[in-house]
Formats: sequence, structure tokens, C-alpha cells
Amino acid sequence: MTKDKSKQTSNKSRRVATSDDIEVSTYLEIAEVGGEQPIATKEAMPEAEREAIIVIDFGSQYSMLIARRVRECQVYCELLPPDTPREKIASLNPKGFILSGGPASTYEPDAPLAPAYIYESHLPILGICYGMQSLAKQLGGQVTPGIKREYGHAILHLDEVDSPLFTDLPSSTPVWMSHADKIEKMPPGFTTLAHTENSPIAVMGSDESIFGLQFHPEVVHTPEGKTILKNFIYRICGCQGNWTIGNFINESVATIKKQVGKGKVISALSGGVDSSVVATLIHQAIGDQLTCIFVNHGLLRREEVERTFNTFRLNLGMNIIFVDASERFLKRLKRVTDPEVKRKIIGEEFIKVFEEEAKKIGKVDFLAQGTLYPDVIESASAGSKASAKIKTHHNVGGLPAKMRLNLLEPLRNLFKDEVRQVGTALGLPEEMVWRQPFPGPGLAIRIIGEVTKEKLEILRGADWVVMNEIKKAKLYRQLWQSFAVLTDVKSVGVMGDYRTYGYLVAIRAVTSEDAMTADWARLPYDVLARISSRIVNEVPGVNRVVYDITSKPPSTIEWE
Ligand code: XMP
Repeated sequence: MTKDKSKQTSNKSRRVATSDDIEVSTYLEIAEVGGEQPIATKEAMPEAEREAIIVIDFGSQYSMLIARRVRECQVYCELLPPDTPREKIASLNPKGFILSGGPASTYEPDAPLAPAYIYESHLPILGICYGMQSLAKQLGGQVTPGIKREYGHAILHLDEVDSPLFTDLPSSTPVWMSHADKIEKMPPGFTTLAHTENSPIAVMGSDESIFGLQFHPEVVHTPEGKTILKNFIYRICGCQGNWTIGNFINESVATIKKQVGKGKVISALSGGVDSSVVATLIHQAIGDQLTCIFVNHGLLRREEVERTFNTFRLNLGMNIIFVDASERFLKRLKRVTDPEVKRKIIGEEFIKVFEEEAKKIGKVDFLAQGTLYPDVIESASAGSKASAKIKTHHNVGGLPAKMRLNLLEPLRNLFKDEVRQVGTALGLPEEMVWRQPFPGPGLAIRIIGEVTKEKLEILRGADWVVMNEIKKAKLYRQLWQSFAVLTDVKSVGVMGDYRTYGYLVAIRAVTSEDAMTADWARLPYDVLARISSRIVNEVPGVNRVVYDITSKPPSTIEWE
């Protein structure tokens, strides 16, 4: 960016329009918009150890990805809606803002806009796609519908190679576009920093450290996207990079100690990565004040209970109550075939068992839960998203509000990959940290029809072979999930000279980022052949194996 351009807006009089006044606006001077104190001018920055970049979320499918990319740069990042109160943002010690993309058009009547206090703060701002268009509109530029929708790859050509946003970038680089609107006229004080064939203003910037990108730097299809974000975070916002897993653990341990004091904490342990990391972190902070309850509902994979016992009780020396409630669950699942009824029964029974065991401990003050950041974001935006209920997704860790315990949720600001890093840093075994997700209702929703002891044994045998072969082929971590399903179909086969009439087992293996969508995994034929051959040879009662080659949508990952 050319530094000596005469500024058409000064720091004191950044021109901005907000969603409230946009209808009537001639672009008002900031002072006229609110006249309140700025949230965090560089001089008035609250003293806090952790610096943050705030993403104002306009509803893009990539918003969460922006936050992940920023955190990958070792800077803490939160995703917040445009109507977040300024006090909330100020408390996070922001060093800069990113305005996300979104489905709206800035010229629609209710198009969301960034709150005025963001501009008042004089902290750096980076608008991405819709975020760029919205800041252009708020600061006095003009956005119009493009003649052609631009979607997919484009080549970005830098016009101002010296811009700090472009440090370490080649003069031309591929980027990922997904937009229909375009900037017709830049706001006063802005210049074009880069263009593509279809977007003459693909990157714009002002001397006030406000930038706009028409493309998406957060997606993998923009190979230099992370460099651009890093430049923004470090060179423009001046972040130090203090968001590390080591710091997170130290901070969390200190916070948990302070919060719990001499109180008692209980936690449900399932052997999954989230509950395991929660338990280990809290145990590190308060030791024996934590009691974990492991409810074996009899619907777990082979050796799961033993493995959890060895890790937590024997190796980590934790206080754990192991309850074998398998008979109880089986009894209640007798003759039940409807998947939703199965889920409901398992959820209810789990809560009952957990409560009974918790009562035996005596007075308890806190309930620990493995809530993660995507859950927090999802529940914050649940009101605005009308989505059809496909499955109830009973998570057996979801414990009842009526227990009236204070919640301890030390992972509520973390993404799954960060939880795994915490688990590794705390010394949890690799196989636990990298465990594929396993549904709360367990094998019950992988047995089509009634769940019986006999069927559970068959499914455990088949599932064991799948897991074994997938791990041997070093595919386990690349797959989101891989497992066997016991169908209620029986078919004719021949073994030796005998006719057989046995179960049909289906193999499911998918790749996915977040389980919202999934693709069936192209497993090598020889891996499939070994799985099939071993299952029919090693698992009595099964004489046929098929591979599920449907993606989600239209299928779901689980069969029930
Ligand atoms: P679907 O089958 O809906 O699954 O594509 C998406 C992800 O959710 C898991 N899943 C569940 N997890 N309780 C859970 O805790 C449930 O009832 C449940 N149903 C599905 C599934 O394993 C996949 O990871």
C-alpha cells in the first residue's frame, strides 16, 4: 500500500453507517452515531494477558474455519454475532477484527452490518467477501450485483506488492472465490491492492489498516490464505502469538482450582476423547476432589471398558466408579426396534444410573462436561437456524439440568483438534486422543432391529476386524469413522459343503470434516477383501459382507 496517499478520512472521523441508520443514512460521522466511549482504542486497551482476534459472523459456511485458521496462528479467536454487546468484545482484549462472509447482499433491507464500535475502536479490520462488501458500504463505498457470479478458482495478481498484507506472497497466486456482488466504488481513502480477471477490486485497503478481500483466505483452495491471515494478525494487528496449548493448560488448571476451591466435582467418563481430556485436565487441577463415573451400558466396542479402566484408574490413578449396568439396558431395550425409541431409552437409563451413583458420593458441587466450541456456537445460533430434526443425537454425556450442579466446562472454547492437542500434552495415550467419534447410544444404533446379547457379540466381532484392518492399513486417522453394522437381513451361503443362513454385515467408512456432510471412503480393494474374508471366517453367524457406498446426504453416517 502506498503510504503517502493523502487520507480522505482521519482516525478521528472514520465514516461509518450501521444497520440501524443505514436506511436514512447519509454516511454519518462516528461521533454522531453513538458518541459512546470507544471499546478498545490502542490507548484504552484493557490489561489482559490473552490477546484476541474477533470474527464478526455474518453467517458464512466458512466462519468457523476463519476462527480455526487464526488459532492455528497461535492467536486466540472467537466468533461472535454482529449484535454482540461492546462490553463482551472489550473483555476479550481484541487486537483486530475479521468480518466474515455471509449469504446476504448489502443492498437488502435487513443486511447485517458490523456494529459502529468496531470502527470506533480504530483497531485493524479485515473484511472477507460479504465482510468486505459490508465494510465498503458502511464506510461510503458502493456495492452492486455482479454481472457474472464468480465461484471457484481465480488467480490473484498483486498491484501493491509492498502492502504488509502481502509479505512473503508471490506476485500471482490462486485464490478461492464465491460471490455474486462486487465493489463498484471503494470508500474514500481506499486503494486497490490486488485484482483477478473477474474482480478488478479483489483486495482493497486503506491507510487506517482496514482491508477487504473478495476471496476466501480461510479455505484450503487458497494456498497462500494462511500467509495473508498471518500477515494481518501479526504485521497489521501486532499480535504476539500467545495462544498455545501449554498456556491453555496452565490457565485452565489455575482457573479450575480457583473456581472449585475445596468443592467436589463429578464427571461422566465415556472413554471418548472429550470426556477423557476433561477428566484429565480437571484431575491435574484438583486431584481426588474429582470423581468420574463410567457407566457401562453394554453397548460398547470390544475391550473398551478394560482400556478405559487401565488408562484412568491404573495409569492416572483417578477416582473412578465403574458401573456395569449392561443387563439393565438390555432389559429395557427388549423388543425395541425403532431407532429413536432406542436413543430415548438409553439416554433416560443413563441419567438414572448416573444419578444413583452420584447420590452415593454425597454432596457434590460441580458437574464437569465436555462441551466444545462448535457446540457453543451452534447453540448461540440455534434460534436463527430452522433445521429439520433428522436424529435426536442423544449424547449420553448430556446430563440433566435438574441435578442443579454448577457446570464446569473447561473445553468450551476449544475446537476438536485443539482438544486432541491438549490430550496429547497431558500424556493421554495416542489411541484415546485420536479415537474416532463413537455415538452415545453405542452399538445399539448399529444393530438394525432389536438389540440382543447374541447380536451384540456378532457386531463386536465384526467391528473388531474392521478396526484392526483399518489401523493395520494406517487409514484410521484419515477416516472420520469406520465401523461395522449388523443388518437384520439373513442370506444363504455355503461354507465347506454346507449351506449356511447367516447375517449380512455392512461396512461403513467415511471421510468428513464435521459429520454434517460425509463422503464414503475409497478404501483400497485389498483392505476390503481382508475385512470381508476375516469377518466371515472369524465371526460365527455372518456369511456375507457388503460395503456402503453412499455419502451424507442423502444417507446419514450411522444406519439408524
Ligand atoms: P449421522 O448418523 O446423523 O451422524 O450422520 C453424525 C455423527 O453423529 C454421531 N451420532 C450420534 N452421536 N448420539 C451421539 O452421541 C447419537 O444418538 C448419535 N447419532 C449419530 C455419528 O456417529 C456421527 O459421528
